[in-house]
Amino acid sequence: MAKNRTSYVCSECGYEHPKWYGKCPACSSFGTMNEEVVLPEGPGRAAVRRPAEATLLMEEGEERGDEIRLSTGMGELDRVFGGGVVRGSVTLLGGDPGIGKSTILLQACRRLSQSSRVLYVTGEESRRQIRLRAKRLGLEYQPVLLLTNTELSAVEQVIERESPDVVVIDSIQTLYSAELSALPGAIGQIRDCTNRLIALAKTREITFLLVGHINKEGSIAGPKMLEHMVDTVLYFEGDQNLTYRIIRAAKNRFGSTNEIGIFEMGEQGLLEVENPSAALISDRPRHVPGSCIVCVMEGTRPLLAEVQALLSDSSYGTPRRMSTGIDGNRVAMLLAVLEKRAGLRLSGADAYCNVVGGLRLIEPASDLAVVLAAASSHWYRPVEEDLIVFGEVGLSGELRSVRNAAARIAECERLGYSRFLIPGADRPKTVGPGTTVYAVKNIVEAIEVALQPKGVRT
Ligand code: TYD
Ligand code: MG
Repeated sequence: MAKNRTSYVCSECGYEHPKWYGKCPACSSFGTMNEEVVLPEGPGRAAVRRPAEATLLMEEGEERGDEIRLSTGMGELDRVFGGGVVRGSVTLLGGDPGIGKSTILLQACRRLSQSSRVLYVTGEESRRQIRLRAKRLGLEYQPVLLLTNTELSAVEQVIERESPDVVVIDSIQTLYSAELSALPGAIGQIRDCTNRLIALAKTREITFLLVGHINKEGSIAGPKMLEHMVDTVLYFEGDQNLTYRIIRAAKNRFGSTNEIGIFEMGEQGLLEVENPSAALISDRPRHVPGSCIVCVMEGTRPLLAEVQALLSDSSYGTPRRMSTGIDGNRVAMLLAVLEKRAGLRLSGADAYCNVVGGLRLIEPASDLAVVLAAASSHWYRPVEEDLIVFGEVGLSGELRSVRNAAARIAECERLGYSRFLIPGADRPKTVGPGTTVYAVKNIVEAIEVALQPKGVRT
C-alpha cells in the first residue's frame, strides 16, 4: 500500500502545498494553512471518483425539469427551501448552539418519515437523549432509524443496508473518516466527509440534511468552501433569549434566498408563527416617542416590524451610535441625513436603534422608519398611532421608491391598517375604502405628516 503523505491545505481557498506557509501563496490569507494527511488512492478517494460521461442537458425521455420536493410538515421551513426539500439535495443548517437545529430536524423527521425512510445519525447526543427529545416532540413512535456511530464508513454501510431516502447528520463536525488521521472536526475531515456524502446524494438520490456548527464569526465552522459544495445553506438566527427564531437561506440552488421562516421555541419544540406581523408588533408601546412601524418585504411576504430609536445627550466627547437588527453604518448615514436635511442637532447625541423581536432588517425600505423613530425620540413627539411607513432615504433626504409597494399596502390592509406614509413615486393607483396614503417627496414632509405635536416631557 502506498504511504500517506502530509500536506498543508488552506482553509480559505483550498490551496495545497507540501510545505507550510504562514501566508497562503494563493489567496494571501494568514494562518490558514493546516496540516493534513493526504491519501494516495484509498477507497475514500476512489468513492468520490465518478465515471466521466457527458450527457445532454435533457436526455430523451427525461422528465421535464423537475425536482421532486419533500414536505417537512412545517410550512415556514418548506417556504425557506422554496417549497419543500428537493430530493437528492444536500442542505447545511447552521446556527448558534442551543438555537434549535437538532429540534427542528427531528420535527421535520416526523413528516418525512411518513413517506420516506429516514435515518438520523447523531454524534452529539446519546440514544436516550434523542428518545427523550422525540418524546417531548411527540414523535417517539415514528419509524425513524437512529444511528449514534459517526464513522463515515459505518454510516455508509448502514445507508447501504437500510437504503434510506433522507439522512440527517447531526453534526457534520462530528462525522469522521477513520481512513484519515486528522481528528473529527478538522478541516480535511469535514471536507472529505461532505464530499463523500454529496457523491452519495447525487448517485443514490438521498436527501441529506446536515447540521453545521458555527464559528465565532457566525459562519459554518470548517473549510470556507463547505458552503460552495452543498446545494442549500440555511442559517438559524435569533438569540436564545429572544422569542423568535428565524431560518434564512444563505444559498439555495433550488429557490430564492429571500424567504424566511419564523418560529417560536415552546414546550413541545419549535412552533411556526402563524401571523408574524401581528406577533412582532403586538407589544409596542402606545403614545411613546421613538417607535415606528415599517412594512418590509421578506422574500415574497410583507412583514411588519417595529423600529425603535433612543437619542439622548452624550456624556462623552464622541457620541455613541449603537444598533441591533439593522446595519450600524446605515443608521449612522441616516442620522447624518437627518442632521443635514431636517436640521436636527445630533452631533452631541448618543443614538441607539433597535428592531424588536430579534428581526434583522436588510431592506433599504426600512430607512424611513429609522429616520422617523430618531426624529420622534429627538423631539419627543410620538409617531402617529398605527401609521405604517416604508421608503428608502437618499443622501439628499429624498424618499426613493421601493419594490412591491402595492403588495405591502394590500397586506397591511388585510391586517387592519389603513394609514400609510410612503415615497411619492409609490403612490398606488387604487386603495381600499377607508385607506389613507400619504405619498411624500422627502424626509421633511414625512416628519410633518408622521409626528404628533410635541408631547410633554416626563
Ligand atoms: P437544540 O435543538 O438541542 O439546539 P441545537 O441543536 O441547535 O444546539 O435545542 C435546544 C434548546 O431548545 C434547548 O436549550 C432546550 C430548548 N427546547 C425547548 O425549549 N423546548 C423543546 O421542546 C425542546 C425539544 C428544546
Ligand atoms: Mg444539537
